[in-house]
Amino acid sequence: MYLLIPAAGSGKRMGANCNKLLLKVHSQSIIAWTLLAAEAASQIRWIGIISQPSEWHDFKAIVAGLAMTKPVEFIPGGTTRQESVYNGLQALPSEAKEVLIHDGARCLATPELFNACAIAILNCPGLIAAVPVKDTIKVVGESGIIESTPKREKLWAAQTPQGFNVQLLKQCHAEGVRQGWEVTDDAALFEKCGIQVRIVPGEETNLKVTTPQDLAIAELILSLR
Ligand code: CTP
Ligand code: MG
Repeated sequence: MYLLIPAAGSGKRMGANCNKLLLKVHSQSIIAWTLLAAEAASQIRWIGIISQPSEWHDFKAIVAGLAMTKPVEFIPGGTTRQESVYNGLQALPSEAKEVLIHDGARCLATPELFNACAIAILNCPGLIAAVPVKDTIKVVGESGIIESTPKREKLWAAQTPQGFNVQLLKQCHAEGVRQGWEVTDDAALFEKCGIQVRIVPGEETNLKVTTPQDLAIAELILSLR
């Protein structure tokens, strides 16, 4: 299975003076933890890291220190995650029929989750790891007034890995460019194109390291393993 790792963000909400993926959790950078999980997932055979060329020096030093056995390619990132994934899709080897996309910032996803997604995507056009939400979610208008409360049984928190048929995902991205759609994950492009996306059970611990508090939570989760 081919794996693309979007890693080209700036980490604004983290508030550090560098890409948050270069920050350390215990002994390793966030991107290193993500790569170690992908390395340990037997179903993954090729890894593409999508990141800003200005940071390739740092990323390449991290990869060199991990003694990866799988091929790791570097792909230039875009100004949005959507653009970054688009670039990643263009850089996939032509024999790639399915692809997993996994945020570099989700450094706690387990090899078992990668493997489960890699196997499941062979039997459907698209899938995402997701967990049922625990909070009651409110839809709030600009005035700060609640507009509605969707039924919690229907609400799932989207994670990555997300898996797709490569040809279909390329078509959906192209349609997104034509229509000017702005989305925060690739599943949303499938949904807009009317293609079914299936849920695979995600992991409660598979958080996206976004804020300084998440760094502390990630440290705790890793020290419990
Ligand atoms: N990402 C990317 N290209 C971008 C923006 C984001 O590849 N232009 C990646 C990030 O590196 C991250 C993943 O997409 O691994 C999820 O994005 P997010 O958690 O929002 O990271 P950042 O965009 O870096 O953080 P922020 O939104 O706080 O600036
Ligand atoms: Mg972002």
